[in-house]
Amino acid sequence: MFLTEEETKMLAGEKGPAVQKAMQILVALGESFGAEKLLPVNNVHMAGSSVLVAEEAGTRFVEDIRKQGGTFVTRVTTNPTAVDPTQWEQIGIPESDQVLQKRLTGAYAGMGANTCNTCIPYLVGNMPRFGEHMAWGESSAVVFANSVCGARTNREGGPSALATALTGRTPEYGFHLKENRYGSFLIKVETPMRDMTDYGTLGYFAGKIAGQDTPVFEGLPNHPTLEELKALSAALAASGAVSMFHAIGVTPEAPTLEAAFGDRKPAKTLVFGEQERQQAENALNKEPSDHVDWILVGCPNASVQEIREVAEALEGKKIHPDVSLWVTTAGAMYAMADEMGYIKTIKDAGGVVVRETCPFLARSRVIAPSKGYKTLTTNSAKMAFYAPGQFGLPAHYGNLQRVMQAAIDGVWR
Ligand code: F3S
Repeated sequence: MFLTEEETKMLAGEKGPAVQKAMQILVALGESFGAEKLLPVNNVHMAGSSVLVAEEAGTRFVEDIRKQGGTFVTRVTTNPTAVDPTQWEQIGIPESDQVLQKRLTGAYAGMGANTCNTCIPYLVGNMPRFGEHMAWGESSAVVFANSVCGARTNREGGPSALATALTGRTPEYGFHLKENRYGSFLIKVETPMRDMTDYGTLGYFAGKIAGQDTPVFEGLPNHPTLEELKALSAALAASGAVSMFHAIGVTPEAPTLEAAFGDRKPAKTLVFGEQERQQAENALNKEPSDHVDWILVGCPNASVQEIREVAEALEGKKIHPDVSLWVTTAGAMYAMADEMGYIKTIKDAGGVVVRETCPFLARSRVIAPSKGYKTLTTNSAKMAFYAPGQFGLPAHYGNLQRVMQAAIDGVWR
């Protein structure tokens, strides 16, 4: 792989051991994927920011990089952690995670990260630009950035994103190259798309078929909301290893079918009709009982608009005493929602607006038994997909209206 003079110096250790280690990672990665060179990058979203993933060994690794003089040379934002910084005890997060998380977040902050600790960095100040080369982790954000923003990133792991943050470089392969960004197969959407849960269901359906391929959607409404597009992005990256989608007339690299496929023919064409939507929804809504105890809204993290919708559904009502409602979001969204009075409405009804973590990145295998949770009820296709395998809770899955009714009634209808 071609290296510039400066990159050669970094690899030789002239910029210190942290940068040298980072360059070794990037060169090894680039060579294994056949990259010809490194790209200059100024935007990293760090996925390895929860101690559920990093544990003690990963935390020590990041601390060591910092001790060796590691400093971030790019803009860096961080993904959710394992801990809500102010309500961790109340919601059942173990104290040991709180202690370890402080060390890990402190190490990232010490190297210069904006520790926003959210999976929606694009809503809290890290908005990708069209054509911008980046190194982002967090699969849902990667799909959103590539598809909705037209930025260019591969799905980075913790070490490679850290290496880019330390060097300002990423290997040029995969979704950085135009020829790898065309669609692979076509899905014709032939059922009305009513809300973000339908978009999540479509993402689940398409991701299962796609594997690593890039689906192209034809027939989506012209102006999906930001929340609908983030739900679609998240579900695609959960049931599949998708990094990008095209929606004709919606996403910037797909003004036409021909542009989305680069004048090539789709490998196959499928239909997402009412029957497929219903089947996919049923596959996620697997729990046969009507038992409800833990409810989650905010995967990916809730926007202010979603928090508002939860508050509106709960205005003047009380959540059932046997139910815990988590609305997971970023600190910045929380602050805005607080200003608007939405947080108070949700709190008054008995719900909790959780910051900087979610059931997937917190230690839910400890939280659920300690709180007696036996099911997870959600409007998120991604969360419904992961809950059974990741933390052993069967899921109820439906739209926000149905989920909020379950929060109030204490049963799933
Ligand atoms: Fe975000 Fe957690 Fe969902 S990181 S996308 S809320 S699983």
